[in-house]
Amino acid sequence: MYASFKSIGAYKPKEVRTNKWFEDKIDTTDEWIFKRTGIKERLVASENENTSDLGTKAAEVAIQRAGITAKDVDLVICATLSPDFSAMPSTACLISEKLGIKDVMAFDISAACTGFVYALSVAKAFIESGMKKNVLIIGAEKASNVMDYTDRNICMLFGDGAGAAIISRTEDKEKSIIDVQCSADGNLKEILYIPGVGSPDDKFMHMKGNETFKIAVKTLTSDVEKIMAKNNYVNEDIDLFIPHQANIRIIKAVGKALNLTDSQKVLTVEKYGNTSAASIPMAMNDCFEDGRLTNGKTMLLDAFGGGATWGSAIVKFNG
Ligand code: UT7
Repeated sequence: MYASFKSIGAYKPKEVRTNKWFEDKIDTTDEWIFKRTGIKERLVASENENTSDLGTKAAEVAIQRAGITAKDVDLVICATLSPDFSAMPSTACLISEKLGIKDVMAFDISAACTGFVYALSVAKAFIESGMKKNVLIIGAEKASNVMDYTDRNICMLFGDGAGAAIISRTEDKEKSIIDVQCSADGNLKEILYIPGVGSPDDKFMHMKGNETFKIAVKTLTSDVEKIMAKNNYVNEDIDLFIPHQANIRIIKAVGKALNLTDSQKVLTVEKYGNTSAASIPMAMNDCFEDGRLTNGKTMLLDAFGGGATWGSAIVKFNG
């Protein structure tokens, strides 16, 4: 029994916030932001939309595209760093309620920007062990809730949004999730963090940007090299390289080190900014909707985030 990636969906908040908006708030310019990050604009959820609302809307699309109903889902996993409630209930519980899913295990994953890859790894294990049949995985962020809009080191980098997928059983290895590898190093806890619970005066995200940048490039490159070698994959086997969208310079540096072509690389950072756990599934959804992602295509996923956490995956799309 193998785990297969059956469907992808996303939800994009309506408000578009351009770089110009930040020029009035912090000491920055549109030119600086675009040159250093590749970001032109990001999406921002409305005041009455929370992370669980974004996640629910993305999940509805993924469920419908998988050709199942919410009743068929037997595990709900939500990856987020901006949960509705800081400790409980989990965002996955709230999404289950909104989808009308009852009596089904639901929990959150706290792995920051690597959260969707972690969720994929857990879903794969539950399916392959025979314990679950249809796992709903979600990456959802209302990152605007954890941004300090006076901190120019970080506030212009992040955006809101959600992506979701259904992972189901298959007997066809050729249509399965080939491999997912995830890792972490708590020694790097200080490069990227949100104090939040236990530090009620500070609910905002903090980052040592340049340090994070350098570690991310190194880690992401070696992580992809490892998963490709382990599975005897070469560059030509990959149709779409879908990395976490933090900074275009990171993606280009990793792409260059790995000799990936421009047509393999998927870039959404310009229009969505960094949507943390939502960035990979939102990029994947764009590829599905514009026709680049079709049944049988091979995706290479790669992410790095606070923790530090990182992970990569080789996935055949079976939607
Ligand atoms: O999603 C999880 C993983 N996240 C990442 O991987 C993000 C990693 N980091 C980055 O994307 C980049 O490090 C940043 C975009 C955050 C910063 O770019 P950088 O090229 O590393 O810039 P820097 O931090 O080295 O700063 C360069 C200069 C500094 O001025 P001086 O010291 O050269 O005079 C900063 O004070 O840019 C200044 N600066 C700004 N200037 C205008 C920092 N932030 C800004 C700003 N606008 N918003």
